[in-house]
Amino acid sequence: MNKFFKKGFKYVDLFAGIGGFHQAMKQLNGECVFASEIQQETAQTYFENYEISAFSDITKLGPEVIPEHDVLCAGFPCQSFSKAGFQKGFDDIRGTLYFDIVRILEHHVDSYGGPKYILLENVRNLVSHDQKRTWEKIRRSLIKLGYNVINTPLIVSPHYFGIPQLRERAVILGVKIDHFDRDIDINIEKKPKNSCDMNSIIVNKDTDEYKLDNFKINEYEEKVLTMWDDFIQILKINEKIGFPIWEVEFDKEYDISNMPNWKQNIIMKNRNFYKKYKDEIDLWRKQYDYLNWVKATHRKFEWQVNNKINSVFEGIIQFRPSGVRVKQPTEFPALVAIVHVPIIGKYRRYITPREAANLQSFPQNFKINKNVRLAYKQFGNAVNVDVIRTVFEKFVNFVEGDSMYA
Ligand SMILES: C[S@@+](CC[C@H](N)C(=O)[O-])C[C@H]1O[C@@H](n2cnc3c(N)ncnc32)[C@H](O)[C@@H]1O
Repeated sequence: MNKFFKKGFKYVDLFAGIGGFHQAMKQLNGECVFASEIQQETAQTYFENYEISAFSDITKLGPEVIPEHDVLCAGFPCQSFSKAGFQKGFDDIRGTLYFDIVRILEHHVDSYGGPKYILLENVRNLVSHDQKRTWEKIRRSLIKLGYNVINTPLIVSPHYFGIPQLRERAVILGVKIDHFDRDIDINIEKKPKNSCDMNSIIVNKDTDEYKLDNFKINEYEEKVLTMWDDFIQILKINEKIGFPIWEVEFDKEYDISNMPNWKQNIIMKNRNFYKKYKDEIDLWRKQYDYLNWVKATHRKFEWQVNNKINSVFEGIIQFRPSGVRVKQPTEFPALVAIVHVPIIGKYRRYITPREAANLQSFPQNFKINKNVRLAYKQFGNAVNVDVIRTVFEKFVNFVEGDSMYA
């Protein structure tokens, strides 16, 4: 352990959520001196776990309220940079939630030199947003405050580290330039895709907290999945289906020339697919009452399994607005706040909040919100604890190992 971690350090947790950063920093011997979280139920979960009352709306915060700290952590909401206003000039970061980070940093840099390290997290697409201009604005705003900032955010995902969740995120690393002025060059070794073990996060027994029967798919869902499973079985498809199946389009012939190209492309593929498998598909449709009872979105099917499995019930399933999606059972799709909670096909049930916690590497003693819907949402919003801990540990080791001021 390097000196920085050994000595202990103070950090702030902005846009704290349920404390993915908090968990990671605690494991590295950090002490949280301030947190901010606007959502009341989320702040309550934070309090129950860490006994810290988070300040509510960061935009209303006077930065002098925040104590001195060594590390500033923030998983700022994506809203911050997707605002139309952010596309004009450099100063337009004003009025975004990202600007609140700058505002706070500015004050602390003026008063005591500012935190030594900054650690920010956001969605992957931050890197390319607005032809990379957004990232450049963020980078320049931090450089202006005296930070040495990584050239391009580090892209990391739990599955790089063997945790079965595919969730690529951008992590921004900065260190005061007077502590370290060389290029920030961190190397993350990735495990190969589809090499994780799904069983590592599954708790397939009843616990005091969660009875598995409460997470079973309902009758309708079971019927829809059986229908799509039969589709796969009856068709005995041994080709890879590289496009979404839109069953309602199979036998339609209306003109599609005015549609956007991507849509024409999908529809044509579906029409051709139907021609090829017409006999089998007609039989299947008849068997399922011509799918009249199926909701429109569930007549769409995304079989994204790379020929690795042969049954829907071997996969990880999501009911999404774009259709019923099935993936091979190596990685769970990213948990997101707007929930399409993953279903474990072989158990015919949704993952439990405890399993969602495992996917985000929250420890066993974490007190999960009792409201199941909120719990999923909170984990969907969080950062993966192991990912953040590993990245920050590597970063600090890299800096402290070389810094003459360490
Ligand atoms: C992407 S999540 C970050 C989650 C966190 N990193 C975690 O591990 O749980 C962003 C959080 O910022 C909070 N937030 C949004 N606007 C805010 C504001 N004005 N002041 C404080 N928190 C805010 C949201 O409620 C949400 O929990």
